[in-house]
Amino acid sequence: MAEHLILFSVLLLSLLASFVSGQVFWSVNCGESEIYTDSNLMIWTPDATLISNGVARVVQSSNKISTVLDSLRVFTSRKKNCYSTSVTKGEKLLVRASFNYGNYDRLSSPPTFDLHFDGNFWTTVQTLISGANAYEATYVAKGDSVSVCVAQTKSGQFPFMSALEVRSIDSDAYSILDENRALFLIGRISYGASKTLRFPQDLYDRIWVPSLAGGTKKVTNNATFVDSTGTNNPPSGIFENAITVDSTTESLLLATISPTNTPVYITTYFSEVNNLDNTGESRSFRFYETTASTSVSISQPVSPPYLSMIERHLYNYTVNSITNISLISTTNSDLPPLINAIEAFNISEVLTDGTDSNDVGALALLQTKFDVLAEWSGDPCLPAPYSWDWLNCSNENPPRVTSLFLNGFELSGELPDISSMDALEIIDLHNNSLDGEIPNFLGTMTNLQQLNLADNKYSGPIPTSLSKNDKLKLTVTGNPSVCTSGKSCKSSPGPGTVNSSPGSNPTSKKKKSSMLPIALGTAIPTFFLIWVAAGVFIILRKKKNAVNHNTPVAKGYTTGGANVISGGGANVISGGGANVISGGGANGNSDGLHQTGEEMTNVNAMHQIIGSPSPLLDNSGQTSDMFEQSGLRRNRIVEYDLEEKLEGLNHGLHVHI
Ligand SMILES: *[C@@H]1O[C@H](CO)[C@@H](O)[C@H](O)[C@H]1NC(C)=O
Ligand SMILES: *[C@@H]1O[C@H](CO)[C@@H](O)[C@H](O)[C@H]1NC(C)=O
Ligand SMILES: *[C@@H]1O[C@H](CO)[C@@H](O)[C@H](O)[C@H]1NC(C)=O
Ligand SMILES: *[C@@H]1O[C@H](CO)[C@@H](O)[C@H](O)[C@H]1NC(C)=O
Ligand SMILES: *[C@@H]1O[C@H](CO)[C@@H](O)[C@H](O)[C@H]1NC(C)=O
Ligand SMILES: *[C@@H]1O[C@H](CO)[C@@H](O)[C@H](O)[C@H]1NC(C)=O
Repeated sequence: MAEHLILFSVLLLSLLASFVSGQVFWSVNCGESEIYTDSNLMIWTPDATLISNGVARVVQSSNKISTVLDSLRVFTSRKKNCYSTSVTKGEKLLVRASFNYGNYDRLSSPPTFDLHFDGNFWTTVQTLISGANAYEATYVAKGDSVSVCVAQTKSGQFPFMSALEVRSIDSDAYSILDENRALFLIGRISYGASKTLRFPQDLYDRIWVPSLAGGTKKVTNNATFVDSTGTNNPPSGIFENAITVDSTTESLLLATISPTNTPVYITTYFSEVNNLDNTGESRSFRFYETTASTSVSISQPVSPPYLSMIERHLYNYTVNSITNISLISTTNSDLPPLINAIEAFNISEVLTDGTDSNDVGALALLQTKFDVLAEWSGDPCLPAPYSWDWLNCSNENPPRVTSLFLNGFELSGELPDISSMDALEIIDLHNNSLDGEIPNFLGTMTNLQQLNLADNKYSGPIPTSLSKNDKLKLTVTGNPSVCTSGKSCKSSPGPGTVNSSPGSNPTSKKKKSSMLPIALGTAIPTFFLIWVAAGVFIILRKKKNAVNHNTPVAKGYTTGGANVISGGGANVISGGGANVISGGGANGNSDGLHQTGEEMTNVNAMHQIIGSPSPLLDNSGQTSDMFEQSGLRRNRIVEYDLEEKLEGLNHGLHVHI
């Protein structure tokens, strides 16, 4: 009975989740083969049914963090390995990928590798000897699937993944976001909170990490409920507490931002904690931008409402010199500034539209027809040079598929019509079991230079469009029933005539011919061409691999730029030791990433990392403090009023209300 009740609640909650927060609520527990329901009643799909490449591993017991993060899948082959799921095109998504090395291989050698989403480079993951990293991106899907891939960039350092989450977000949340860009989370803090907040309190399953910035004090909201509907729909729980400073003469430092090429989006949430109508007091403050030489107000006065909330933000924000963003009381304010929560993001470059849609469509046909190809997902070509292993692409935008290397894939049956991949120059299908007649559409592919159909089960004639194409290097040896000059097509006055008499050749000949491919093409002297036209030429060549798989050595991407938001001093959005936003443990409120409510096996190991390895989060000298006490401390935000836009622009700010 109790079990039924639990099951019922699970169903109800998942229903609620998919209902309220959109269509996708996908949680993948990598390296697992069983479904797992966590203490938040989130259902984790095992990846054993999703992906066949890679090997499931578990972390060492001393590195355990949480059930979900303690298993992983490591990939020792292929340029990239992807997880993929369907979404609705145009849907706004939150995608979170987590990595807990946990010394699973007992080599004490945490790997570094690249992370991609939907054909875009995301970040370089530097995993930790102890503790997990998580990366989160928010963006609008450009296609009808989302893919997250890991790619090896260093020899001997194998990529892995521990957990992957995809959630739908209402389109009106983060509506300031340019639909062609992504937001990469740097930090998301609920000030003064006692525990991590996520689903079901947060319908989008954002993870709000508790923090209490140094030099600030926690205040509790007198209101028992705060209406948090509105911009970004934060969970009302983040308004239960706030931080403030002791007096109106003190400033509340939100963030220290360093010059970088990456613009940031910082958004802040405020709710008054006292009913000031009762006390007759006032609270108002402004955002200030302070550099070594200037300190200017960059907002209108902010007076947070009681029982509801307001949001203020800075979008596309960059600075020319190290800049502090602070909250400072206005002269007529009775009370010091306060803040309830903050989020900070990097704004990505413009996202790719992906590989040419004709190519993607034709590849999908191949994948539908041949099961063995079906599990390749992610963008076929992007980001370069991480294409699928069995094809090669051009460097155009959008990229085109220029080569198919499908030799030895045990393909059988007929080749679907892939002529829309009309940029193909090389098609290598040798050593499969393709049958039927050699398809005519191949002759319409005008860019084709090499077509290797050797060692298949083709029969019948070679289409004239192929045999007459003297720019094409065609190889059809090892197809005993193909009508070539060596096995004359009965009643074949010329090319194009079918010789469908299998078995007309002795096996010995078959074998021989399969080792000596017939090549028709550019290298053929004219008199041979004439022979060809007459249907009687065979050019025997020493067989060689027509094509080498091109496996470029992956080179790392560097996201240049200096530091951005720094945790200088006791303040702000700070990174812990390894530039990790840490959920800290010393103050006892550091729930693990996937940990809320679960038994925490190793509190100190769980560096809550969101947005992680980021010079943005400069921890100058504050490492241990940051790690142990809070990730983002007094983060400050900035939002601007239109009236002050000009001032903001003078400082390179784009101000939005
Ligand atoms: C907040 O609540 C406490 C306890 O209920 C009460 O004593 C106090 O007056 C309230 N403060 C304001 C400003 O409403
Ligand atoms: C920013 O604030 C920190 C901490 O108060 C301080 O040490 C630093 O000098 C400030 N930097 C600027 C540019 O004002
Ligand atoms: C930020 O502002 C610059 C300058 O106006 C503009 O070129 C750029 O496209 C903006 N970036 C975003 C993410 O809006
Ligand atoms: C042909 O493909 C099969 C299956 O992939 C492979 O085992 C075999 O080695 C290949 N033969 C040659 C000659 O490449
Ligand atoms: C694949 O493409 C790259 C870049 O376009 C090129 O350098 C490489 O030679 C190609 N490999 C093959 C086997 O065609
Ligand atoms: C944000 O951008 C900075 C500067 O380009 C980069 O160093 C940092 O790794 C980025 N952080 C995230 C979370 O994307």
